[in-house]
Amino acid sequence: MDDPLTLKGFRIYPDYLDRSQQAAMIEDLRGVLRAAPLVQPVTPRGKPMSVRMSAAGQFGWVTDRSGYRYEPRHPSGVDWPAIPASVLSVWDALAACPRQPECCLINWYGEGARMGLHQDKDEADFTCPVLSISLGDEGLFRMGNVARGGKTESLWLRSGDVVVMGGAARLAHHGVDRIRFGSSTLLRDGGRINLTLRVVT
Ligand code: SIN
Ligand code: FE2
Repeated sequence: MDDPLTLKGFRIYPDYLDRSQQAAMIEDLRGVLRAAPLVQPVTPRGKPMSVRMSAAGQFGWVTDRSGYRYEPRHPSGVDWPAIPASVLSVWDALAACPRQPECCLINWYGEGARMGLHQDKDEADFTCPVLSISLGDEGLFRMGNVARGGKTESLWLRSGDVVVMGGAARLAHHGVDRIRFGSSTLLRDGGRINLTLRVVT
């Protein structure tokens, strides 16, 4: 079987954003999170997730007792803020997709947070990639296969790294096993932020 990291369509751009670009993006995200605060999501079975989530764009991905889905508004009822231009420019440079992202999911990992292996499959159009931007503490990213099970490969994602999962990697299982809390000084209080840009409709 092929190594998951060699799946055609998985690309990593280490250090794509320099420190000042990362800091500027964090400032933009603080504005987003003032309008649309992070929430602790609950799985459809009622299990609280360890990451905190919010979003920008026309849609935000949410989960609660009613299931996994995209919603046009934050649970508080406010529209999701627009995706910051600093974030959109990464998509324009790397996604190689004629469509613009409709969701920028914001995941915040505090100490001990993780994300189990899953597929991003609640979108209607899998021809567009998912683009991920890592900011703050290092996270151990695990990449698996489109089918459940089989061999997985892990790599540490660092602040400023960008990953594109398109083509054969678009529906591959992936997750974050752990973060190295306090390994980056980008965020005052530590933690890791991961942005994923998705075309939803
Ligand atoms: C995700 O799959 O939504 C997050 C991936 C990551 O945190 O790197
Ligand atoms: Fe994902």
